[in-house]
Amino acid sequence: MPPELPLSAGHPPFGEAHCAAIEDVCPEIVSFHFGLPDATLLARVKSTGAILISSATTLREASWLAERGVDAIIAQGAEAGGHRAMFLETDVATQVGTFALTRQIVDAVRLPVIAAGGIGDGHGVTAALALGASAAQIGTAYLACPEATITDVHRAALAKTARETAITNILTGRPARGVMNRFMREQGPIDDATPNFPFARPAIAPLRAKAEAQGLGDFSPLWSGQGPIAAHCLGARDFTRQLAEQAALSISA
Ligand SMILES: Cc1cc2nc3c(=O)[nH]c(=O)nc-3n(C[C@H](O)[C@H](O)[C@H](O)COP(=O)(O)O)c2cc1C
Repeated sequence: MPPELPLSAGHPPFGEAHCAAIEDVCPEIVSFHFGLPDATLLARVKSTGAILISSATTLREASWLAERGVDAIIAQGAEAGGHRAMFLETDVATQVGTFALTRQIVDAVRLPVIAAGGIGDGHGVTAALALGASAAQIGTAYLACPEATITDVHRAALAKTARETAITNILTGRPARGVMNRFMREQGPIDDATPNFPFARPAIAPLRAKAEAQGLGDFSPLWSGQGPIAAHCLGARDFTRQLAEQAALSISA
């Protein structure tokens, strides 16, 4: 008899409670992933005066976001670690690399573009700016900082010099890029029979817990982009300063 699975939905999508929290705290910037909330909630967020940002994985998604009044667009290239922001696209084969996507959006949409995906050092930041981006967003490279609350198996997978990553939907039900593990290899990284997001995550939780207790990431989400991760022990603040200095140097070179 298989164990009963804890099939709860986990984090609910953006709704009344999140919106009320934003109205209470009034953050300077509010950034969405997977599109935008419905028009009423979005209008409430906008009326707090927050700068609105969301991610696009294709030009079509960027244009959709621009039509709905966002202030800036994250161009999330296929190299990016973690969940793909795809909300109009349904096929990972449509996903565009960071360089190509950044140029497409900069050319067609009159909004600041933030390039994301595979950028892990100052050279990458310089390249993004040269492509017309107004800024770069970095995720994976910050996972090396001590502030990152990732699991030990995740940290170990990121430390490997040869990191093989793939976009997979079998760990959560939505496509996300992570380091290849046993489950992705044996099941295949994309499987249409996977439970919908977020139900795949609790379904695999017992296997994940058992493997992690043995120091194995065989069934864990080991989110990682394709970009470089410097071997450093810098805190996030010092790493950010180093990135800015590297970028300034390579711009002036
Ligand atoms: C571990 C991890 C968790 C992430 N979680 C989120 C998230 O909760 N919301 C979000 O908008 N983006 C999230 N992202 C995606 C990043 O915003 C961004 O697209 C990506 O990290 C950029 O590519 P890079 O990882 O190659 O630097 C996450 C990325 C990683 C690596």
